[in-house]
Parts: sequence; structure tokens; C-alpha cells
Amino acid sequence: MNQYAALKIVAGTSHPALAKGIAQQLGIPVTPMDVSKFSDGETYVRIDESIRACDVFVVQTLCNPANDYLMELFIIVDALRRASAGRITAVVPYFAYARQDRKTNDREPITAKLVANLMTTAGINRVLTADLHADQVQGFFDIPLDHIKALPLIAGYLKKKKIKDLVVVSPDFGSIKRSHELATALDTALVVISKRRSRKEHDTIEDMTILGEVKGKNIVIVDDMISTGGTIVRAVEVLKKNGAKDCYVGCTHPLLIGHAAEKLAQADIKELIVTDSVPLPHQKFLKQMVVLSLAPWLAKTIECIHQGTQMGMLFDQLKSDYLEGKR
Ligand code: R5P
Repeated sequence: MNQYAALKIVAGTSHPALAKGIAQQLGIPVTPMDVSKFSDGETYVRIDESIRACDVFVVQTLCNPANDYLMELFIIVDALRRASAGRITAVVPYFAYARQDRKTNDREPITAKLVANLMTTAGINRVLTADLHADQVQGFFDIPLDHIKALPLIAGYLKKKKIKDLVVVSPDFGSIKRSHELATALDTALVVISKRRSRKEHDTIEDMTILGEVKGKNIVIVDDMISTGGTIVRAVEVLKKNGAKDCYVGCTHPLLIGHAAEKLAQADIKELIVTDSVPLPHQKFLKQMVVLSLAPWLAKTIECIHQGTQMGMLFDQLKSDYLEGKR
């Protein structure tokens, strides 16, 4: 049973449109808040209405510049705590630093764990996120974390297209589980690409080898994020060279850093299916892009957290609704 007062949606400055979309789904307004900068760059926050004892959900995706948005989140949470919010949930559709979840070289940090610790220290009581880079990052949090996945949305969208001779391709070993789930949902075979990155330059891919048959097949590649676009552009090139037909790409977090959008625009991609986990400025929007909104699923999850009702059944229902094209 819910022991808190009203449900409130508070929006950080990283993705106001998503916060508004979630609030609309819930039938409530976004709580007014002033977020501004002092002349030296420090952040100022003031919540413009009482949130005493309320169940507050702060929507702040951690896209670029992640450090600024993270600090802003901490400052908003501090303001909420001092204003006696009953419970604070950080709604972080894109959780930055999740790729730094282990040491791959000597003397490296595990920044995903550091960010999880900082969130708890700041006073966040729960986290709601989407498609973490690796599921095990959940274990870095000692507070409740709910994790939604965009795969049913992407699978449902592709299913409706009834694409013939389709094969799901995992762009690297890290995406095998996600790709396997998509292949199961679409009832297709799974092919894997072995990707080797440079140890010195993190964004540079040294080699890609296809493990499986793609000749004469339509392809769907699914990944958690597109950052510089290197992985997807290279994968599409290699697949095409090996005789693949149309290449569809699905991804949850279209970060599109630097020249990623231009690179993707020139790649031979039939459709790029993404979500609104991060904002997509006009100049990064491509004509091949289809944007699926996470707002309805996030809103349902928020409602469930607020009411203290069981989430498993809700997720199963949402998954089958998306897969059966009912949403
Ligand atoms: C890697 O492990 C991730 O799942 C993505 O494949 C990767 O981060 C995408 O980055 P980029 O677009 O820079 O290749």
C-alpha cells in the first residue's frame, strides 16, 4: 500500500519532453521548478510548490553532458530532501557510465559503481531505468531498482512489418542476450559479429567478423546504444559485403555523439528504430529513423511503484501487448 502523499513528476533539464510525456500519461502536470545557473556555472534549483511527504519521481536522463546532468540530479534531490519529500525515485532512462562496469585494464575505475554509490548518498530512494548496458549493473545499487526494456517495443514494431528472410544480428558478444531475445520474439535465426576494439582508443573498432550466414537475408541489428555510430556503421558495411539485403537497426539509446548522425545517414540502413530515452535534437533526426516512446511504459511502471502493486504481471502484460501489436 502507498504510504506517501501525491505522486509528483519533476523534470531535470536533460529531457523535458519525456518528462512531459510521462506526466501526460499519468494525467498530472510536471511539478514547476526553477533550474538555472549562477554566473560561475554552478546550478541553482528551487521547487516551486510543496512536495512535503509526496512520492516524487525525478526524470533525468544522463545523456551528454552526463556529468552536468548527474550533478543537476543530485542538486534537485537535495532540494527535494530538504523540502521533506516522502520518497524520491530517480527516473534515469539512459544510465551513463554503465559501460564502465568492470576493470579491463590495471588502475581503472569502476565508474558505474561510483555513480550508483553517489546516487544513494545524494538521497535517492529508488531508481527506474531502461536497458542498462549490462543487467549486472543492477547489483551495484543497494536500493530498489526497476529496469524496463525497449525490446518488446522494437520487436512489436518489426513484427508488424512482416519482413521475409529475416535474421537477427548481434553486433558484438555483449549484445548476444538482447539479440537472442529479439530473435526469439521474431522467430528468426541469430548471427553474431565478433568485434574487437582498440585497447588504447576506446571508440576505435579494429576488426569485425561475422559468425553465421547472412547472404540473401534481411537483417535486424539490435544494440543498447549508438554512441559514435562506429559499431553499427561498421557492422552494416561488413554485413552488406557478405551479401546481406536490407539492414534494419534497433537501439534503445540513440546518443549519436559527434558525427554519428552523418555517418548513419550515409550508411546503407533501411530503418533505424530508436526510443526517446534521450532527446533527439532536430539536426540528429534522420529520415530513416522511427522513434518509439518509452513514456507509456515508464508511466505505467511509475504508477505501479506509487501504488505498491506487483510489477511482474504488469511487465508481462505490456510485453505481450507490444508484441501482439495492441499498443
Ligand atoms: C558496446 O558494448 C555497446 O553495446 C555499443 O555497441 C557501443 O557502445 C556503441 O558505441 P559506438 O556507437 O561508439 O560504436
